[in-house]
Amino acid sequence: METLYFDLRPTRAKQQDVTEKIREAARILREGGLVAMPTETVYGLGANALDADAVARIFDVKGRPQDNPLILHLSGQQWLPRYCANIPALAFALARKFWPGPLTLVLKRRNNVPDCITAGLDTVAVRCPNHPVALALIRELGLPIAAPSANLSGRPSCTTAQEVMEDMGGKIQAVLDGGACTVGVESTILDLTGTQPRLLRPGGVSIEAIETLIGSITVDKAVTAPLSGDERPKAPGMKYKHYAPRVPLTVFSGAPDATAHEIERRMCPRTGIICFDEYRHLFEFQETRPIGSYNDTAEQARRVFSALREFDDTACTEIYAQCPDSRGLGFAVGNRLKRAAGFRVVECDAQRVILGLTGGTGAGKTTVLNIVEEMGGSVLDCDKVYHQLLDEDEDLRFEVRRAFRGVFTIDGTLDRQKLGAEVFAKPDQMARLNQIVYRYLVPVLERQIESVHEGLCAVDAVNLIESGLDRLCDATIAVTAPIEVRVRRVMARDGISERYARLRISSQKSDEYYRSKCGYELNNAADTPELFRQEARIFLRRLIEGLQEEKRYGVRGRKKGRVTRE
Ligand code: TXA
Ligand code: MG
Repeated sequence: METLYFDLRPTRAKQQDVTEKIREAARILREGGLVAMPTETVYGLGANALDADAVARIFDVKGRPQDNPLILHLSGQQWLPRYCANIPALAFALARKFWPGPLTLVLKRRNNVPDCITAGLDTVAVRCPNHPVALALIRELGLPIAAPSANLSGRPSCTTAQEVMEDMGGKIQAVLDGGACTVGVESTILDLTGTQPRLLRPGGVSIEAIETLIGSITVDKAVTAPLSGDERPKAPGMKYKHYAPRVPLTVFSGAPDATAHEIERRMCPRTGIICFDEYRHLFEFQETRPIGSYNDTAEQARRVFSALREFDDTACTEIYAQCPDSRGLGFAVGNRLKRAAGFRVVECDAQRVILGLTGGTGAGKTTVLNIVEEMGGSVLDCDKVYHQLLDEDEDLRFEVRRAFRGVFTIDGTLDRQKLGAEVFAKPDQMARLNQIVYRYLVPVLERQIESVHEGLCAVDAVNLIESGLDRLCDATIAVTAPIEVRVRRVMARDGISERYARLRISSQKSDEYYRSKCGYELNNAADTPELFRQEARIFLRRLIEGLQEEKRYGVRGRKKGRVTRE
């Protein structure tokens, strides 16, 4: 199918032409065709809302799940009684204030609204868009237009006609180009059918603006958190994966200095960056899409979807994004970013400190971890999580069984000694086991680390560096000790012979290795254990204070706050 392109941008088209093209577009809609139209929020994929066959085609073309209802676009509040029942006075008050504009109201439906629009619900979502082209088209048609955002289902919404062409070219009858959308994120959805107005989706009208008019509103749970498998959101669309770019996105929330600093610390050469304009210079060697000043949420809203889309044409393997705070339109921008990230959010709280601890046996890692706990911190024991997974994760067990035949007994328990015999002292087998294990273990550990929102947490991992977990830590510490000290300690601790203790130590990586890979070293050469504990306590306190200061003052205070390497 050839998709007609009508250029209706005010600077390009004469009024006479515009009127003619709108008439033609309305004729296409009347005949059951689909027309993409500009609105102030995002482009919509329009059909005559009372033509069930045309509406069904919207779902086809977008690849949209059938249980996700559509918004009716009206020419004004005078149409409300035609399609909605039991309309509360509040609806008229809101419409008077915000229409035409980016506010969608959910009201009781009337029976003339086709079931496929409402996905069988007894409510219908309605709004009056604030764009001359959309308004002219609705008036010319004389009927409401059903229009979801004009992107393929799951992709970021389109804010220019070119983006619509990418997703819809060849699939629909026409695209009306009305220029770039001036709001850039979809409408705010407010459900007025319950006892209290409930926000189902933050959008182009801020919560503050709504609350100024009608007092406090409830924010639906699905807005701020992912739903668990069997929960049903009020807005069916909230349960689907949304706005997602091709590669994984991680969102960093917190003060802009702190998020920029955290991104800078974790990024790899092929990490794409969505940042505020002020921080662009930090990422000059990265693929970067600035989305406006950190206090200009209106500009961020205009640019966020295009930024997400543009990464699909780059070689980036992941995207990191700075998240605005939730004031004004920032709430909607942050919501879109978090949804696009599947709620993969790193909290960059200045007070939160994650330390990665590693080192060979007998050096004193456990002593340091005990001190972390005495300081009120928590310890993430990676070895323990590993063993839990080996006991419980069927997929991991299957892969280990396939790679190392005979390490599971008949009743399904893992023979650890047998597995040990297969891999210890055989570097290639060890590498093979690690390759399997990391694939399961690292995402679990990542989630656990990321769920630490405040306070101190020490990650205890022999393979901190090899697994890549060091990237998630604010600082990495190698705990080292002279060989003779380690030998004595391992003999006493495990009751083994000197020869065996030396063998075990020599089968591990050297102190030099850990020293070269970690940011800090804590060398356990003190004369007594108590002395080492004192030293370690002072070291940790200084390090943590320095890291917190560094985070608080962000990139600019960085040098000042740095703890020198011990
Ligand atoms: O700004 C916008 O609202 C854009 C432009 C084109 O108008 N439209 C838009 O439509 O964002 P769409 O289909 O991408 O998102 C509509 C959202 C979905 O999450 C859907 O589940 C929800 O509105 N929705 C529709 N009808 C509803 C209803 N009766 N009750 C609750 N949620 C509803
Ligand atoms: Mg959409």
